[in-house]
Amino acid sequence: MKLFAISDLHVRHSVNRDAVESMTARPDDWLILAGDLAEKPEDIEWVFATLAPRFAKVFWVPGNHELWSGPKSDLKGVARYEHLCELAAKHGVLTPEDPPALFEGEGGPAYVCPLFLLYDYSFCPDGMDRTEALAWSAEAGLVCTDEWYLEPDPYPSREAWCAARVELTRERMDSLPADVPKVLVNHFPFRMDLVRLFKIPRFVIWCGTKETEDWHTRWNTRAVVHGHLHMRATDWRDGVRFEEVAIGYPRHWKQDRGIDHYVREILPGPDGPDRGWGGPIWHR
Ligand SMILES: [Fe+2]
Ligand SMILES: [Fe+2]
Repeated sequence: MKLFAISDLHVRHSVNRDAVESMTARPDDWLILAGDLAEKPEDIEWVFATLAPRFAKVFWVPGNHELWSGPKSDLKGVARYEHLCELAAKHGVLTPEDPPALFEGEGGPAYVCPLFLLYDYSFCPDGMDRTEALAWSAEAGLVCTDEWYLEPDPYPSREAWCAARVELTRERMDSLPADVPKVLVNHFPFRMDLVRLFKIPRFVIWCGTKETEDWHTRWNTRAVVHGHLHMRATDWRDGVRFEEVAIGYPRHWKQDRGIDHYVREILPGPDGPDRGWGGPIWHR
């Protein structure tokens, strides 16, 4: 019994949807879906319905794309997130609102902790506030679609929603047994130094929160899983393995390798760090 992960399936693209359809069943194993499955609830539910029967247990955390609604939608912000959690529950998929599940297979025991933390524009040069960070990205011609479509209701802003999620998640993590290792899962990277967007470096402001910079050392963490960057890599920080597991849009992965090539083994996973400087090891 192993623990696997993949993210950013983006099944709005038919190439990706066909790939998900073709994913090999591993009925003894667990699968983490680390966000950005799709935008429409019916497509998100299609992924749950397609993959949940193929694995012993499936986890999901929301990405920014699942939360896109637009200001006129009647299903936005927290209500949209809760609706998606209900769709997951319908298919037995565990979400950040479920208690973490104890993985007792190879490389375990470890609590698999799906988290929903969002971002707060703090991934930017020190001293900038949100307005300055947005201007800094705009100077490079960058503005994330989230600015129009990711509604934070009833919170006044995405960063306020992020702050509330960080606080809630800290409390939940503190309540878990300290002696059992954890696998932390979030759509957004936990550390700014893992965001290496070589072509669009100032997109970093939509990628996470500095609040989670030290979370891998705070709760006896075996591995940390995230997506969002569409730049698959393995990194090590303080002896803890970080796995970016996104396949991304069709141009971001090689279809001739098949989707199974991109389903990353999290546990037991590789020993490491296998390079003195801790990575990154890129996964093409
Ligand atoms: Fe994505
Ligand atoms: Fe994303």
